[in-house]
Amino acid sequence: METKWIKPTEVEEGVRLLKAGEVIAIPTETVYGLAGDATNDVAIKKIFEAKGRPSDNPLIVHVATVEQAEHFAQTIPPVARRLMEAFWPGALTIILPSNGRASSLVTAGLDSIGLRMPDHPAALDLIRTSGLGLAAPSANRSGRPSPTSARHVADDLTGRIAGIMDGGPTGIGVESTVIDCTAEPATILRPGGVTKEAIEAVIGPVILDANLSDETAAPRSPGMKYTHYAPSAPLYLVEGGREDLVRVVMARQEAGKRVGALVFDEATTPADVTLSLGTSMETAAQRLYEALRKFDETDVEEIYVNRIEPTGVALAVYNRLYKAAGGKVIRP
Ligand code: TXA
Ligand code: MG
Repeated sequence: METKWIKPTEVEEGVRLLKAGEVIAIPTETVYGLAGDATNDVAIKKIFEAKGRPSDNPLIVHVATVEQAEHFAQTIPPVARRLMEAFWPGALTIILPSNGRASSLVTAGLDSIGLRMPDHPAALDLIRTSGLGLAAPSANRSGRPSPTSARHVADDLTGRIAGIMDGGPTGIGVESTVIDCTAEPATILRPGGVTKEAIEAVIGPVILDANLSDETAAPRSPGMKYTHYAPSAPLYLVEGGREDLVRVVMARQEAGKRVGALVFDEATTPADVTLSLGTSMETAAQRLYEALRKFDETDVEEIYVNRIEPTGVALAVYNRLYKAAGGKVIRP
């Protein structure tokens, strides 16, 4: 299949493909999504096939208005309405009871549905002009880091999808926060662009799904159980500070390994390849997936990164690093 490049101004072309049951990658403020008509089984099958995504992992549906969310949800509890008012458009996916209007492939047979209003002009334009709810998981091959540029999408999905709308690099860089509003109190299933602290300032205390702090607990968000975001070389979290990271890096080099380091400042390290995530957690979120993809283009055999404190924006970054590391933490 030929994969067409679409400019963000060519909304009509995007709409034409979506209405024809094709799937196209679209920019959002978090990561690129692979979008298809949420009511069209044929389109949804194409999304799962292009990504190689397990069919028991539900997709989220992107909407442009609260009315459109009402079209797919059976009820919208007051807590969810307050979250929509406070954070939409934005990086918050809200799980609500489904009314079955979306394809059952979208919800993977669950009786709940994830809804999000993206904060991106091209994405909103596509949804409004097509009048469609757009099911869109991240536009990567399953297991790969999510795409934060159209180039990342092309690397993973060229020849497998009808089009890529190139909206430049994404702003936030990690996926949306997923919050389950069918539970009481509301429960964060995946940390992301909207912080727990910001959510609690609006609706009061929420719970972090047990699986986020205890890896042995079964996740309630089906997607969280799969290996994710992983570069090909094994990644390890290192407890402590820069000196501890450097010590581990040098010991591994002495053992004959080519070693990569991922750091939260602009300084270099003795590692064979050092990639910087910038100097704030916001830049770390923006650059994380690009960095993980970059290591794959080098010959490093092991990658080390300091463990960070999982609060605020850092919770999402920590969660992605922890998953990419498969939970491997070194305490020097
Ligand atoms: O920022 C984002 O959320 C991006 C952009 C494209 O919007 N999308 C994204 O989609 O990250 P995806 O499919 O890669 O991640 C959605 C997550 C998965 O972990 C999935 O299991 C979970 O949301 N999810 C979807 N529907 C759910 C439901 N009904 N109940 C529980 N978890 C659900
Ligand atoms: Mg994903």
